[in-house]
Amino acid sequence: MASQTRQRMMHLGAFVHESGQHVAAWRHPEAHYHAGTSFADMVDTAQLAERGKFDFLFLADTAAVNLQGSADARRRMGKVVKFEPMTILSALAPLTKHLGFVATSTTTFNEPYTLARQFASLDQINGGRSAWNLVTSNNEQDALNYSRTEHMSHADRYERAIEFAEVVLGLWDSWDEDAFIRDKESGVFYDTDKMHVLNHKGKHFQVRGPLNVACSPQGRPVLVQAGASGTGRDVAARLAEIVFTAATTFEQAKEFYTDVMARLPRFGRTQAEVKVMPGFYPVVAATQSEAQEKYDYLQSLIQKPVGISILEHTIGVHHLDKLPLDGPVPEMPDTNGPLSRQRLLLEQAKRDKLTFWELCLANAGPRGHALSIGTPTQVADEMEHWFKDGACDGFNVMPAYQPGSLLDFVDMVIPELQRRGLFRTEYEGTTLRENLGLPRPVNRHHLDRMSGAAQ
Ligand SMILES: Cc1cc2nc3c(=O)[nH]c(=O)nc-3n(C[C@H](O)[C@H](O)[C@H](O)COP(=O)(O)O)c2cc1C
Repeated sequence: MASQTRQRMMHLGAFVHESGQHVAAWRHPEAHYHAGTSFADMVDTAQLAERGKFDFLFLADTAAVNLQGSADARRRMGKVVKFEPMTILSALAPLTKHLGFVATSTTTFNEPYTLARQFASLDQINGGRSAWNLVTSNNEQDALNYSRTEHMSHADRYERAIEFAEVVLGLWDSWDEDAFIRDKESGVFYDTDKMHVLNHKGKHFQVRGPLNVACSPQGRPVLVQAGASGTGRDVAARLAEIVFTAATTFEQAKEFYTDVMARLPRFGRTQAEVKVMPGFYPVVAATQSEAQEKYDYLQSLIQKPVGISILEHTIGVHHLDKLPLDGPVPEMPDTNGPLSRQRLLLEQAKRDKLTFWELCLANAGPRGHALSIGTPTQVADEMEHWFKDGACDGFNVMPAYQPGSLLDFVDMVIPELQRRGLFRTEYEGTTLRENLGLPRPVNRHHLDRMSGAAQ
């Protein structure tokens, strides 16, 4: 009898924001450049991702307009306004059928009850296709919009994040799947034995519960985590079902993958419960030279102050505009913002012996994520290598500009991955969790009962 074992498939997220990942994307003649004001453009992007059979659309987020740097530098920046993720993803739900939705939401400036409620609601609206990307906020200026004068320290943010996530997960287990009877005859609406009160009292939060949203169609929304320092990796191993990470080389990605997987047993978890999906910035065309031309064209649209400003944002260090462009990249103090990304980019500068401006250029598109320029075969070869040789379970694909770069990937790379049996040709399930092949979590109150029965 033929083996029933299915070949391991890669998972793909479409990581989209503003006009594209590239800092000059908005200047591309064919780009969507009404970021944050054109709902039609977002519909277009989501439907294109669904046509490509992507697992999900991924929206990163920060909550501040950059006021650092000169007015001239700032007025040239295309990454300024955008849609708030929960709102736009709610609106996209009925216009798609299978595509999952990952919204970034911070534990630093939210309350867990509000966040648990929003994601549980989104999951009801889209039939179990939601995921929460847990971040602690990498943009120090966000603090100024949330009644603080400075950003919480890296360590304090993570301490709060762990308790925050425990409360959210607890609230998502407030109701059993069959808690609501809604029997008009008897007049009983729900079974009180199938409702669970959290009664959380911790250092940062006191939350009674239960949540006033029913059990999620996929058990609970999928938990994504993005943060890659030592503490960040522990949080990933403890909580994340998808780990979003950044790596410029295969070796870095493999080290990260191996390390996160090795941390899982400490938190009682297994590899089957976690997918690691680094960012991937493809520039693809029918020939290698055409792909290189596409890359060079977007690079040529980078204005000097903007190239510097996006590097400052990516590595969480300001006032770099006085550095000589052709000089070396100096040593820098650890940021209280995106610490892991800062280390990654400074390491890249050292490894590739980049001048300051060359680092700005290297950062302007991929921003610390893997860059692949080539034909569909070459790009697919690289993805296959990472996937099969222990560096990841899939990728968050970052189109340089929308819609063109996403269209190139959907029309050229996806068919090649499908031909190799590495990517789905049809969605497997109806929920995001099913499509990702992640187990449906058992409500903690049933686990308690199960372990109680075994004693
Ligand atoms: C791949 C990746 C993506 C991230 N995306 C966001 C984001 O969209 N919004 C945000 O506020 N922080 C984001 N973060 C920041 C982290 O949540 C965290 O606050 C910051 O990176 C510092 O933690 P680290 O040093 O462990 O990475 C991201 C981090 C990584 C590694």
